[in-house]
Amino acid sequence: MPTNAEQRFDWTMPASLYRDPQHFERERQSIFATNWGLFTWSARVGKPGDYVSGILAGYSIFVMRGDDGVLRGFHNVCRHRGATLLSKESGDCGKLLVCPYHSWSYGRDGHLAKATDFGGEVEFDAKQWGLLEIDVEEWRGLVFCRIRRGGQDLKSWLGPIDAMAADYPLETQEHFLTCDREVEVDWKAYGENYLECYHCRAMHPGLCAAMDIDRYTIDVHREGGFFHLYAPRRKGGLTRGLYFYRFPYLMLNLYDWGSSIATIEPLGAGRIRHINWYFFQDVSPEKADENKRSADWSAQIVTEDLAILLGVQRNLNAGVYDRGPLSPKYEHAVKAFQRMVRDALGDGGGGLRVAAE
Ligand code: FES
Ligand SMILES: [Fe+2]
Repeated sequence: MPTNAEQRFDWTMPASLYRDPQHFERERQSIFATNWGLFTWSARVGKPGDYVSGILAGYSIFVMRGDDGVLRGFHNVCRHRGATLLSKESGDCGKLLVCPYHSWSYGRDGHLAKATDFGGEVEFDAKQWGLLEIDVEEWRGLVFCRIRRGGQDLKSWLGPIDAMAADYPLETQEHFLTCDREVEVDWKAYGENYLECYHCRAMHPGLCAAMDIDRYTIDVHREGGFFHLYAPRRKGGLTRGLYFYRFPYLMLNLYDWGSSIATIEPLGAGRIRHINWYFFQDVSPEKADENKRSADWSAQIVTEDLAILLGVQRNLNAGVYDRGPLSPKYEHAVKAFQRMVRDALGDGGGGLRVAAE
């Protein structure tokens, strides 16, 4: 632990919190399951019966459009003996969603329509056996889910981001490319890296060419749980853009001509899937090369970050490095991020204390 003389610095969180499975489980329950998580985009579930399945906060879930046009979300688990209902990532469930195990059938709104050939004399009230629901909301063509039901609606959760992004034409942009990468990096290490540009000059030549990195600024909105990142553009560099990080791990990079939308699926302590979708205003074949170049440019920055983070995580795992000092000039948002983690865990101590606050 730091001595009193050293406490003028803020400190990173202890390395053990980036590798400890028990701590990860606490994060899963108190952070991932209670926050809205970006899950898919609306065009994938455009008509009744359309579904997308996947994992959120470690739970197997799916969203499905009902006959009434409402998008609902459910745990991907049959109420009979717990089978996985949908094994494909997306599709149309048909008139009824039929469990592959014993053929119980659910309506597109999640009610149990038929417990096929259940038999016997016992009283069985099908109404009690609908699918287990989760929260779902759509925002600007993006679909968000929340495992623990209740709490802030999505627009409140996004807070000022909603108004700030209002004149970016997100919902008219179409999906062009998905880039998923599974890496041995903790979700916190990824978030912290995103929230400082101390490393930009050393690591991101492409970004420095497009932006005036000396004037890169990160505004912390601690109450709203989000960060607004910006820097003046360089001549011939990027066009007008808007960049947000919403805790715990939503990343929105918005332009008039396209968007890079990213999120993280934490897979365990020190392991994530980084999920990045690229949307463009014009996805016609003539634009494909240009769109690909834009997506590659942006993906290259993530590649550069992940390359260094893999080494960081190896060292966090190894047990030599424990904590380091945070730069007062550049790493204030890292400190704020760590506060958000601690607040979300309701943890004033337990190894999460940051000095000099
Ligand atoms: S587990 Fe689904 S019908 Fe038996
Ligand atoms: Fe970076």
